[in-house]
Amino acid sequence: MIRKEIIDEIKARVDILDVIGDYVNLKKQGGNYRGLSPFNQEKTPSFYVVPSKGFFKDFSSGKAGDAITFLMESEGMSYVEAIKQLAKRYGIEVEEENMTDEELEAQNEKDSLYIVMKYASEYFKDQLWKGEEGKAIGLSYFKERGFSEETIKAFDLGYSLDLWDGLLKTAKQAGYHQDILEKAGLIIRKERKEGDRRYDRFRGRVMFPIHNLSGRIIAFGARLLKINPDIEQPKYLNSPETPIYHKSDVLYGIYQAKQQIRQEDNCYLVEGYTDVISLHQAGIQNVVASSGTSLTQEQIRLIARYTKNVSVLFDGDPAGLKASFRGIDMILEGGLNVKAVVLPEGEDPDSYVRKLGGSQFKEFLKEQQQDFISFKTAVYQEETEKDPIRRAEIIREIVHSISKIPDPIQRQVYIKETSVKLEMDEGTLFAELNKIFIKQQRSASRQQSYEYEDKQVDDLDFAHPEEPLAEVKSNSLNEGLLNKEKELMRVLVMYGHHAVEENYMVCHYIKDELEDISLKNELHQRMFDVYYQHVDEQKSLMEKYMIEQVEPDISKQVIDLIVEHYMPSPNWEERNVYVPKKDEDILKVITRSIDQLKFDVIKDMIEQKRQELKSVSDENDLIILMTEIQHLVSVKREIAKKYDIVIS
Ligand code: GTP
Ligand code: MN
Repeated sequence: MIRKEIIDEIKARVDILDVIGDYVNLKKQGGNYRGLSPFNQEKTPSFYVVPSKGFFKDFSSGKAGDAITFLMESEGMSYVEAIKQLAKRYGIEVEEENMTDEELEAQNEKDSLYIVMKYASEYFKDQLWKGEEGKAIGLSYFKERGFSEETIKAFDLGYSLDLWDGLLKTAKQAGYHQDILEKAGLIIRKERKEGDRRYDRFRGRVMFPIHNLSGRIIAFGARLLKINPDIEQPKYLNSPETPIYHKSDVLYGIYQAKQQIRQEDNCYLVEGYTDVISLHQAGIQNVVASSGTSLTQEQIRLIARYTKNVSVLFDGDPAGLKASFRGIDMILEGGLNVKAVVLPEGEDPDSYVRKLGGSQFKEFLKEQQQDFISFKTAVYQEETEKDPIRRAEIIREIVHSISKIPDPIQRQVYIKETSVKLEMDEGTLFAELNKIFIKQQRSASRQQSYEYEDKQVDDLDFAHPEEPLAEVKSNSLNEGLLNKEKELMRVLVMYGHHAVEENYMVCHYIKDELEDISLKNELHQRMFDVYYQHVDEQKSLMEKYMIEQVEPDISKQVIDLIVEHYMPSPNWEERNVYVPKKDEDILKVITRSIDQLKFDVIKDMIEQKRQELKSVSDENDLIILMTEIQHLVSVKREIAKKYDIVIS
């Protein structure tokens, strides 16, 4: 925990133009600044900084936030890391305080793990560069593989002696406790009757340190030097999971690759450590490895921080290719574009780049990379040519992939492409796609109705609302209501601190008026709660406070609301949102937006009670219900009359 006063001081000192200016070439435009999005490759600038309000908004990716969010998004930092970086920049001292004993202990433990891993890495490097055994065996092995000294240094490669206690002994002499060495996964402890036995995990292997995003060493991969078929030993040995190493969250090479990934707006994905290193040396630095395990969602999210384009390099064995389909679908599901490159049989990226050399290998990548449709088609076609049953299978397989893509426009593009490539009618493909969605929606709503028995259908968040499905579209009442909630939230954030009369502000008025109406949208309700929790302490700074919210989705929503107000999207009329002129009487605007919301809520309630009517048999209940409906209808009429709304 960093003290709140320090965070406040940092926020007060931060100049968002200065921070973002390091990343984006900004041009002044009115009171705002504009530039090319750092999150997307684009030709027309759609990235804005509004210095007067301390936020940025990127229309190409939808990202928005303050300087802290910007660092988190662009550098992949945590909140605390971003705060610390800014503190350093502005010369503010950060001492962490108020940690509970457990937090302190966990933090200390992590810190000691980083320190001991760093120590171990230095030790392995020393052995490689200076030790007799390391030089003779490890360094010469790397050189035989064609790694230059520069490359070996860039990846912090090392060597572990062929001893039971090479590291253990040296580290203990240097003052490291054996328990922390064990926690870091560097030594293994076996319980014995005569006392525990401890020994080095990595022995007689070349060492590949695994770095996290900020370059700290969090684990090791270690390769056996000579593979002896008579002894059963894994070729690669990895660190176990530790408090600082979660295998599924990590990509090998990301630290060395991240800058180039952003610059090239593309990331190559390979399988092995040596593939990453060889490609890097050949001048292809935007490359990471999943290190032999199957790809995870966390790893895809990690890539997505830097680019939306992934090219996967596959070894050319046909059996492996089909197994790769899942990974491709996962990348699509993560909203990324995916290309595949298949290497010639018997080659991996490391061996093949050494064979071709860097520039020819780059050519090869350019020529051979194909989108997933062609890739899947090719894999299937190789199996059996011209078999009609197979053909149906290919189509289903490809449409299945397309269904994973979150962006509906992107899906349409791919359906079109598939239709051309496979000479299939587009309509048939769409029908196939919709079949998948309907199936998913059925199982989703079944699932949801278990989970929230008392919620209404309205609350269901349909996975693909833009899809041309009749069932989904009919939910427009709900959509209208959400827009009205949104409008009210905007008014609250922007005008909440205005005084209606002495000691009575717009936000009080809204709260009193809304009484017991709870907001349908969970995010809105959370914003509402956060707002009222802090309104009294923040006084007039609520807009700023909400933008700087630690909860990023709230902050983003607030910025979107404000931005929409100043730059109303072209279809706002369609959405039936009332956008007030700037100098219009605020109270009028607010009353109107509350009434709009109430109107929809009441409409909703009436509809519900009418439904209830059908199943009520008790006469008293019936009368109560009817009276309630009558009352609601008259309130609705009143609102309608005020705004000349004609109701049926
Ligand atoms: P070289 O044989 O040194 O060229 O490495 P490689 O990267 O070509 O190895 P391979 O294609 O056999 O494996 C790809 C990746 O899978 C490796 O980089 C490792 O991350 C992982 N891997 C391979 N073998 C093992 C193993 O025995 N144990 C573990 N944990 N991982 C392995
Ligand atoms: Mn290899």
